[in-house]
Amino acid sequence: MCGIVGYVGARSACTVVVDGLRRLEYRGYDSAGVAVVADDEVRVVKRAGKLTNLAKALAELPPADRLRAAASGIGHTRWATHGAPTDRNAHPHASADGRVAVIHNGIIENFARLRDELEAAGVELASDTDSEVVAHLLAAELARTAVPVGVGAGTSGSDGGPGGDAGISGGAGAATVGDGASGAGLVAAMRAVCARLTGAFTLLAVSADEPGLVVGARRNSPLVVGVGAGEYFLASDVAAFIEHTRDAVELGQDQVVAITADGYQVTDFAGAPAPTQRYHVDWDASAAEKGGYDYFMLKEIAEQPKAVADTLRGRLTEAGEITLDEVRLSDQDLRDVDKIFIVACGTAYHAGLVAKYAIEHWTRIPCEVELASEFRYRDPVLDRSTLVVAISQSGETMDTIMALRHAKVQKARVLAISNTNGSTIPRESDAVLYTHAGPEVAVASTKAFLTQLVACYLVGLHLAQVRGIKYADEVGAVVAQLQAMPSKVDEVLATMEPVRELGRSLGSARSVLFIGRHVGYPVALEGALKLKELAYMHAEGFAAGELKHGPIALIDDGTPVICVLPSPRGRAVLHDKMISNIQEVRARGARVVAIAEEGDTAVAPHADHVVYVPRTPTLLAPLVTTVPLQVLAAEIAATRGHDVDQPRNLAKSVTVE
Ligand code: M6R
Repeated sequence: MCGIVGYVGARSACTVVVDGLRRLEYRGYDSAGVAVVADDEVRVVKRAGKLTNLAKALAELPPADRLRAAASGIGHTRWATHGAPTDRNAHPHASADGRVAVIHNGIIENFARLRDELEAAGVELASDTDSEVVAHLLAAELARTAVPVGVGAGTSGSDGGPGGDAGISGGAGAATVGDGASGAGLVAAMRAVCARLTGAFTLLAVSADEPGLVVGARRNSPLVVGVGAGEYFLASDVAAFIEHTRDAVELGQDQVVAITADGYQVTDFAGAPAPTQRYHVDWDASAAEKGGYDYFMLKEIAEQPKAVADTLRGRLTEAGEITLDEVRLSDQDLRDVDKIFIVACGTAYHAGLVAKYAIEHWTRIPCEVELASEFRYRDPVLDRSTLVVAISQSGETMDTIMALRHAKVQKARVLAISNTNGSTIPRESDAVLYTHAGPEVAVASTKAFLTQLVACYLVGLHLAQVRGIKYADEVGAVVAQLQAMPSKVDEVLATMEPVRELGRSLGSARSVLFIGRHVGYPVALEGALKLKELAYMHAEGFAAGELKHGPIALIDDGTPVICVLPSPRGRAVLHDKMISNIQEVRARGARVVAIAEEGDTAVAPHADHVVYVPRTPTLLAPLVTTVPLQVLAAEIAATRGHDVDQPRNLAKSVTVE
């Protein structure tokens, strides 16, 4: 949570940074601010509320204001953890003398002790945040070591190089980068301060004494470098600079990076050169635009057929084998697996719940699905033959990272499913399958969910194949069924007008319940989550068979109950039971909305509305039954006047525990 951007180059840093923040606003929108180095001064402008408030404040500055011409700067969009979302708690935070400014994503766990220490030394803190201490600590460190020096050791690159070995020392006008060897300057100060911090942080800092330089650091929180021509970027996510460059460099854990107009330099916290990996982003700025839709969420719902197809592309070799993207495990390791845990949060957890049905059915390996935030605290039984599958769109969800690390300490193997190349979760895993959903900007997951389902099916098939349970032709048959899904999702999308109309009529409902059986149960949970987060309504998903054990008491005259039906073909028992459950709720006054397969004639007499979806194999049905629930939630939210893309209190990437 919190989006951060840094820039050094020939353009207006303020403009580049604010544009970058616009693309990162999905990460948090409680406040926004920028700091630039102009005329040897650090200038900070920040406002509570969405980025538009900051943009307005900047637009009100005189046209000739020198802030606009600054060539280096940092910017932040906040999801509040410590301190209310006010102007004073907005980032950047400045040192007492105003010469240093800092932005932060994460939580500094030992901030209280550091604040006490600063206050004892006479520093007055101006905010309630954990982050502000860093500005004061940097200033103190700079004061303690005030000797300007040249470039030091480090892995560095320039626009002409491959991101490996050229120094930052650069050409005329190049900024001088403070050096760890002598212990002076902002870079060295950042290293020294980071060594004192505990918790999770991405930090960016600028100093009035070192214009043309932005210094960043990361631990347990994301930070990437954007490599342009004569300009360099730092950001939580490549989306911030994708309109300027698609070349990026991953930063590892506990690293410090410095950018100038001439290059970048990466070291560890002790100042030793750090290895980095450069990569090319396979989507462009247009993928991160609304493209004519009212909301990103609507665009992303519409992109689902393509996202599913892209995630499937190239997965089946000519020999009929399923391939993952990165595999640091042997086939024997996978054959030794005797237990699977899927760990994830929110929507990704629901994808995991669907995966359990497919993985157990195809591999006969017991599979448990756990909320990542609970996993390590209950001391799960893990060993070398346990496979932990971590699902995360962002690859940066802290609960999932901590679950993964716990699993690794217990020697379990970890396989990641992620949409974000180079993010922490895939980097720390033994095997990776990337979804190819492209950027998902709306806070509510849509295409990420469908592609996670596809990735889970592929993992299940891969395991079944490696363990000799499924032959290539059987795997090929399921892959062919999967390949038919994009056009089925397209068919669903083409029939959504009645669902939108239904959504408009449900805007005033007090509570909406979702029920399902088998893979329809996680779909019901996902439908309820979408409605809660977007429409701020009471919504709950239940296993349909559980209703009679308590939740049926919630049903009142007119309570909408969305029922996700299994196919009557092949799963007739389940279908019959679901019809009984529908009759039970209807008898108590529920308004029944059924999501049913085309040709399911049995449901219509028991429902007030039926939304038909194309026929699919039972295990793959969530790929179509989820879509109407996404559309419904977006429509109800819009009817209630909510911001569909940026629901209150939420952030897309949850990088705190
Ligand atoms: O990035 P992740 O997939 O790890 O995110 C996990 C959840 O925070 C996420 O799925 C969240 O529940 C959705 N954005 C809700 O729509």
